[in-house]
Order: sequence, then structure tokens, then C-alpha cells
Amino acid sequence: MSKRVGVLTGGGDCPGLNAVIRAVTRRSLDRGHEVLGVRSGWRGLVEGIFEPLGPREISGLLPRGGTILGTSRTNPYRVEAGVDRVLANFEAERLDSLVAIGGEDTLGVAAALHREHGFPVVGVPKTIDNDLSATDYTFGFDTAVWICTEAIDRLHTTAESHNRVMVVEVMGRHTGWIAVMSGIAGGADVILIPEQPITVEQACTEIQRRHNRGKDFSIVVVSEGYELTYESGERRQVTQETATDEFGHVRLGGIGHELAREIEERTGFETRVTVLGHVQRGGTPTPRDRVLATRYGLKAAELVIARRFGQMAALNGDAIVDVALDDATSELKTVPREWYDTARAFFG
Ligand code: F6P
Repeated sequence: MSKRVGVLTGGGDCPGLNAVIRAVTRRSLDRGHEVLGVRSGWRGLVEGIFEPLGPREISGLLPRGGTILGTSRTNPYRVEAGVDRVLANFEAERLDSLVAIGGEDTLGVAAALHREHGFPVVGVPKTIDNDLSATDYTFGFDTAVWICTEAIDRLHTTAESHNRVMVVEVMGRHTGWIAVMSGIAGGADVILIPEQPITVEQACTEIQRRHNRGKDFSIVVVSEGYELTYESGERRQVTQETATDEFGHVRLGGIGHELAREIEERTGFETRVTVLGHVQRGGTPTPRDRVLATRYGLKAAELVIARRFGQMAALNGDAIVDVALDDATSELKTVPREWYDTARAFFG
């Protein structure tokens, strides 16, 4: 019997979302189901904003960044009667199931709705931050790392020409995956991440050590969530705004400038800052992300068809598997010590 499958994208956009939408829609249509796009993440279900997805809508999507469905950080649990409105709009549209494509927040809502209301949802893990448990990688991460690595490569040549220290601030929220991966790939001389915070003094010692060896430029990669940490034990998070969003997150950003000031003052080396910001999330996905997103999308459609709700498509080694949404959202996947040690082997 033909079913109506809903698809939504929530949270920060990332490259590969459209490839998932394409794969979910394609597989569902091929199996005789109808697909309805939900506009702007959970907001679309709270407010009842939908658009049909057919062959024409999913044509040409593979290389396209962003999300054709739009996205938001709306949390139905923080909106007046939000959950009731989600359930009512879902029923009014005669939807049978939902594919929620998102990170910790979007999937956290999906997990809660499933747990509390038996809501028929499956998840697909997206985020450039790669901080979701129960999957080896989220799509979007590879593209972000590629963009940061390219930036580091470019900064190398200008740093070298001017004998400067270049500080590159990258995203990642409270995990340092983007910083560590792009830092290793780009040959950063110091990398600072939230999970294994070296002190400002240690960072300066590494730069000094390098300059004593005859190198007169350095590349420092800092993750936006790194807290300025001093030998004295003082620690300070740098944020753009202290107000939190509907999921309780502060807006991070600005650490690059603070760190650069410290480095310049303490070492005397001229220091410049590059904040990559949303460039890391924009534009076309890498082939790897397109393929991962496609495999996730097909898996999500199959989970829906098999009525295996409360599950999320995940990558385990090279295999696409499914895991419980609850397992994927209960804790953040942080950078393990071994990864940081790999990066650290090239400090200084
Ligand atoms: O979660 C993805 C992410 O890009 C984080 O790395 C970053 O902290 C945040 O989103 C930025 O959010 P916004 O797009 O709301 O500024």
C-alpha cells in the first residue's frame, strides 16, 4: 500500500543534505510511496508547511550545497504546544513516517518523540562537526575538513612569505574533529581543541621551539570551542553571544582573535587571524560526502519501508548499519587521545 513519507532537514545546514533528500525520495518513489518535504526543519511540522517531492524536485541535487527544504533550529519542545502541533500536522497531512536529517539537536527531538509518542521516525546523521555517537562519520564533515585544509595550505604560502604566525579558527562546537583532521592534513604546527586543551603557554612554547629551529612562520589551528586555558588553571570560553538558542547552545566564535593577541604578546611574532566561519558549511559536497549521504538516504528509506522506527542510519567501518536514535544522541563523540597524539607528533 502506498505510504506518505515526510522528510525534514534541521539544525545548521551542511553539504550533502540534498543528496540525502534525493536518495530518500528516489527509493521511496521507486517503491510506490509519496514523499512530502517538510519546510524549515521542525518548524515546518509545528506550523504545517510542506511541499511535495517528486522526480523534478530531486533532479540535479547531488552537487548542490545547502538544503532545498530549508532548515531552522526550532525545538518543538520549546515552542508553545509545539509537540502537540507536530503530532496534529503530521496526522492532518496523512503522513505515515518521517525521515529526520540532522545532528544532535534535530535527532534528539526525533528520539524524544519516538520514545514518548511512538512517533514513526528514522534519523540520518548530518553535521560538519562529526560529533554524533554511534556513527563513524557524519556527512558534511569531509567537505568541511577539505575546505579548512585548503585554507591552511593557502595560508602556508603567505605565512612563509611574511614570517608570520597564522591563527586559523575553525568550527566544531564542543569537539575538535574539524581542527584535528584539517590540522593533520594541512600540517599545522599547533592545534588547540576543547577535549585536550593544551595551555596558551604550551602553544607559545611550541611556536618558539619551531622558530628556534630556524622556521620563521607557524600555522596554528584553533577550534571555536577551545577554552583559553592557562598554566594558572584559569579557563575561559570565548563566545559571540551569551544568549542560548532553543537547544541551549551559546554562539561560539572569537577565540582566534584572543589567541592571536596572546601569541603576539608572549612571543613577539607578528600574528594574523583567519576565521573560516560559514564558508566551512557552504558549497558543493566532496565526492565522499555525496556517496555517504546517498548511502544514508537509501538506508533511511529502507528503514521506513521496513517500519523500523526509532533507528538511525550509521556508518560502521565501511558498512551502512542502523543504530538506535537514543544511542546516537545520548552523548557527544569527542576526539580521542590517539587522534590528538597523531596531530601532536608534528607540533613545534
Ligand atoms: O553545528 C554546526 C555548526 O556549524 C557549528 O560548528 C557552529 O558552532 C554552529 O553550527 C554555527 O551555527 P550558526 O549557523 O547558527 O551560526
